[in-house]
Amino acid sequence: MNILLRAHSGLRYVVLGLLIAAIFAAFSNWKSNKSGDSKVYLFAFIATHVQLLIGLLLYAMSPKVNFGLISEKVFRFYSIEHIFMMIIAIVLITVGRIRSKKLEGADKHRTVLYFYALGLIIILAAIPWPFRNLGAAWF
Ligand code: HEM
Repeated sequence: MNILLRAHSGLRYVVLGLLIAAIFAAFSNWKSNKSGDSKVYLFAFIATHVQLLIGLLLYAMSPKVNFGLISEKVFRFYSIEHIFMMIIAIVLITVGRIRSKKLEGADKHRTVLYFYALGLIIILAAIPWPFRNLGAAWF
């Protein structure tokens, strides 16, 4: 559980970094009408799915997931808000990835840009940043 939590916490920066890199690449590939795919789209997709898998394991084990204490902020956050928003974000990124694979040229990159950017915004909003007082740290 401790190892998974450390991995989940640190991997957030990998996910955020790869999503930002993919979004920048998608923007420039869109503007330059580039043909073909970009590996960074795939890497960002894989990183979010690894995070999803670790998250699901944590969800099954974490003492902060407890529906009996749902009226308390921290328990409500981990039991409902965190998982719900993260799954929506990951679904958006997955839809973006799958749709973009069927498209070519500027359309492909624009699709990645929109879906990944929306996913990124939701992920940023659903991370238990220390200033939100949800009992989580920066690492
Ligand atoms: C890109 C998606 C995600 C990111 C960036 C993310 C990030 C984080 C971070 C930073 C923490 C705090 C770790 C700490 O206390 O040091 C956390 C905790 C947690 N996450 Fe996620 N998460 C994601 C997706 C998910 C998903 C999809 C689930 C559930 C299926 C999940 C379940 C949990 C649980 C249960 C905890 C609390 C563990 C505990 O402290 O006992 N996460 N997450």
